Amino acid sequence: MGTVERSARIGVMGVCLDTMSYEALSHFMGGIPGAVIFGNLDHYVGIEREIVRALDLAQTRICFIDYDRNTEEAIWMTERLRSEYPDVHSFAVSSYSEPEAIIAAMRAGCAEYLLKPVQHDRVVDGLARVEAKQKKRARSTVRGKVITFVGSKGGTGVTSLALHLALELAREGKRKCLLVDQHPALGDASLYLGTGRHQYSFYELASNADHLDEELLRGFLLHHDSGLDLLDSPESVDATHGVSPATVEHTLAFLADTYHFVIVDCPPGLTDGTRACISQSEQVAIVMTAELPSVRNTVRYIEHLSKLGYSSSSIHVVLNRHSKKGPLSDDRIEKALGREISLRVPNSYNEVIRAINTGAPISSGEKSDFGAAIHKWAYELTNSDGNDKSKALATSQSAYGMKALFSR
Ligand SMILES: Nc1ncnc2c1ncn2[C@@H]1O[C@H](COP(=O)(O)OP(=O)(O)OP(=O)(O)O)[C@@H](O)[C@H]1O
Ligand SMILES: [Mg+2]
Repeated sequence: MGTVERSARIGVMGVCLDTMSYEALSHFMGGIPGAVIFGNLDHYVGIEREIVRALDLAQTRICFIDYDRNTEEAIWMTERLRSEYPDVHSFAVSSYSEPEAIIAAMRAGCAEYLLKPVQHDRVVDGLARVEAKQKKRARSTVRGKVITFVGSKGGTGVTSLALHLALELAREGKRKCLLVDQHPALGDASLYLGTGRHQYSFYELASNADHLDEELLRGFLLHHDSGLDLLDSPESVDATHGVSPATVEHTLAFLADTYHFVIVDCPPGLTDGTRACISQSEQVAIVMTAELPSVRNTVRYIEHLSKLGYSSSSIHVVLNRHSKKGPLSDDRIEKALGREISLRVPNSYNEVIRAINTGAPISSGEKSDFGAAIHKWAYELTNSDGNDKSKALATSQSAYGMKALFSR
C-alpha cells in the first residue's frame, strides 16, 4: 500500500463483504477517478483502528459493511465507528429490503443502505452525496473561535460569564454566536437566558455526529432574542449520554465551522469531555474567585494544561467577583499563579442575581461595571478575530496541535 494510493480522493474499505459484492465494488472503484479500495476485512470486532489507519490519508473515507453475515455485530461496529471516528462514513450492504432492517442500519449510523447485488449507480450516487456534504461543509467553513469556560471550583460564575460574553458577542459584536451548555445534566444556561428548555441537548446532537449538517443542527437550537443560539444540557438528573470525547471534538469542530464564536459552559474539573472541548478551543477561560481553594485549583489547572502543551496566551485567567477590598490581594493571587490575571470582573451580586432570577441578562448598554468588563472582553475578541488570515491559521493549527497532545 504506497503513499500515493493512501492519499486517495475516496478511500474505501470492505468489512465482511461476500465475494460478489467485493468484486463488484472493486470494479466500480476502478472506474472512479481517485477512488481506491484497500481491502476486505473478514471480521467485525476490534477493527476500527485498522480501518482508520488504512483510510488515513483519503479525503473521503467510506466503509462498506456487509450486514448479512452477522447483523448484530455489523450494527455494533457501525455504532463504534460513528462514535470513535465520525469522519468515516458507513454504507450497509445487505440482501434484506425489509424496512426494519434498513431502519436498524440507518439508526446505527449508516449513511447509505445498498441492496445486493450492489448496483453501480447506487454506489456512485451514495459516494457523491457524501462528497457533496463534505464540500458544502468546507465551503461554509468560518473556523470560528471556540472558547471553553471552566470553573476552578463550583459556583465561581462560569455560566454567568459565559452567557454574558456570548450575548455581548452576538448583540454588540454582531457575530454569529453559539453557547453550548456542556453539563452532562441540569445545566443552567437556558434558565439564566430565559429561553425555556429544549427537549434535546448538545449530547443528542453529538450522537448524530456522522449526519451533522446545518439542517440537523437547526432542530436542536434554542434561540435568544439577541440572535444568540444555544445548545442545551440534558434536563434529567440521571442523564447518561455515552458520547465519546472524540465525538465531542468532532461536533465542536463542526460547530466552529458554522459560527464565528462557540462559547462552551463546562462543569468544574478537567473531565474527558471538558478536555475534548479544550482540544478544539483557541482559548480556555478559567473562572476563579479570590479564595484559597479557587487559587490552588487554578494553579493546578494551569500546570496541567501547560504540561499538555497549551500556551500561556491561550489560557485566560478570569478573576470573577473581584473587589479591591477582597480577602486576597491581586498581587498575592498573581504571585501564586505565577502569571497575570487576564481579566477582572467586578462583584455585582445584585445585578447578576437579578439577571438570573428574571432570565433577563445584563446589557452592556446599561450603566454597569459588570457589563463594562464583559464588553471589554468581547471587544478584544472581535477585534482580533478573523481579520488576520495568518493569525487565524496559526490559532487553528495550535488548536489541532492541542488535539494531538490531548489524544496521546
Ligand atoms: N460577577 C459576579 N458578581 C456577583 N455575583 C456573581 C458574579 N458572577 C456570578 N455571581 C453569582 O454566583 C453564583 C453562581 O454563578 P454561576 O451559576 O454563574 O456559577 P457557575 O460557576 O456556573 O456554577 P456551577 O458550578 O453550579 O455551574 C450566582 O448566584 C451568581 O449570581
Ligand atoms: Mg454553571
